[in-house]
Amino acid sequence: MSSDVGGWVRAARRSDLREGDVLGVELEGHSIALYAADGAVFATDNVCTHAYARLSDGWLDGEVIECPLHAARFDIRDGKVLDPPATEDLKTYPVRVDDDEIQVKLD
Ligand code: FES
Repeated sequence: MSSDVGGWVRAARRSDLREGDVLGVELEGHSIALYAADGAVFATDNVCTHAYARLSDGWLDGEVIECPLHAARFDIRDGKVLDPPATEDLKTYPVRVDDDEIQVKLD
């Protein structure tokens, strides 16, 4: 995976992420979940803020991801916790799509 001076990192092919799906990727030491919803792509940390589970193993319902372990739910657009037991919001990342390439801006 390559990054440019703006911090944008190639994350996946757009064609690898179908509408309504979530995909986990490892980017420069970050575990990131990519989501396709509403015809757009969103990115958050892939590890639940409650304990240790990968949200990419969970269920995406519209703009809401449900953790596979204890069923906390988060809004993928802003990372906000919607349902317990998680209390901490998810970190989100800017996403852009360039042709068939999904890019994520890391810190
Ligand atoms: S690890 Fe996600 S809700 Fe507990």
